[in-house]
Amino acid sequence: MIKQKIVLITGCSSGMGLSTAVYLAEKKYRVYASMRDLNKKDSLLSEATKAGVHIEILQLDVTDEESIKNAVGLVLKQEGQIDILVNNAGFGSGGFMEDYSMEEIRSQFETNFFGLVRVTKEVLPAMREKHSGYIVNISSIGGKIAFPVISIYNASKFAVEAVTESLRVELAPFGIKVTAIEPGSVKTNFNNALQAADMSRNPSSPYYDYMKRFEKNIEKISSQRSDPIVVAKAIHTAINSKNPKRNYLVGNGASMFWFLRSILPNRIFEKIMYNIFFSHHIR
Ligand SMILES: NC(=O)c1ccc[n+]([C@@H]2O[C@H](COP(=O)([O-])OP(=O)(O)OC[C@H]3O[C@@H](n4cnc5c(N)ncnc54)[C@H](OP(=O)(O)O)[C@@H]3O)[C@@H](O)[C@H]2O)c1
Repeated sequence: MIKQKIVLITGCSSGMGLSTAVYLAEKKYRVYASMRDLNKKDSLLSEATKAGVHIEILQLDVTDEESIKNAVGLVLKQEGQIDILVNNAGFGSGGFMEDYSMEEIRSQFETNFFGLVRVTKEVLPAMREKHSGYIVNISSIGGKIAFPVISIYNASKFAVEAVTESLRVELAPFGIKVTAIEPGSVKTNFNNALQAADMSRNPSSPYYDYMKRFEKNIEKISSQRSDPIVVAKAIHTAINSKNPKRNYLVGNGASMFWFLRSILPNRIFEKIMYNIFFSHHIR
């Protein structure tokens, strides 16, 4: 009998993490779906029941070292190994950089970047010992192109891209494969979290008008978001590949933006970005 592969996923209370947990369980993986607040497990449980699959649910906050140690320790105790780690937990913050407090900036990195690094460090010894493993980092098209008004979020995802690229080479001799999924716009709870820098929405902010334009334009762009299942399928493709690609661009807008970025001179690309995000004049 072939042993089920063991998957640990962070941030499974909603969105891509939830979809991926259910999808991989349907594909016969043994899924450990973690979330920081177990009071939020009902959506995952109900989707798992609908799909007729069993998923193990455990507490893991990527900003809390002890909770990471407990969660990883529990999976290793029960299974003896972790074959696949999906670093998915993250949140988005938006606002003009000048309006951010340093505390908000640190908090964005604390989850999206340091959180991912912490969990990865905890899982790596077991993967090294087995001389095998997959690490899938949920980055973003914002990890390849820096969009306006989400500069700090972009920076946290550029950092994710950097460690992904280094780890691919560092961990190759240990049989561990590393890849980045780079979603465009995907329909999850994510945009609800795009509220961090309220300062930019305050009429006293020098960016107030631009923030309003940005939000109008984002509303238009967000009406065409992809289903999170596209991310789950890309992850499945990556972990089924002997040599997963460096990155997988998925979801609305990701390939289009990357294509434009790759072929256009900087000045023209920046003009297009300005028009896309700030063109709507509001009186
Ligand atoms: N949606 C998009 O358009 C998009 C595009 C590109 C990349 N992404 C990336 O995709 C990933 C998943 O986001 P999503 O779109 O699925 O949004 P989501 O529905 O808001 O899911 C984010 C998940 O991360 C969890 N999380 C946040 N902080 C955490 C922490 N400290 N410890 C553990 N879990 C934490 C959330 O838990 P709570 O419910 O407790 O907050 C939630 O389960 C993120 O890394 C995001 O940056 C999203």
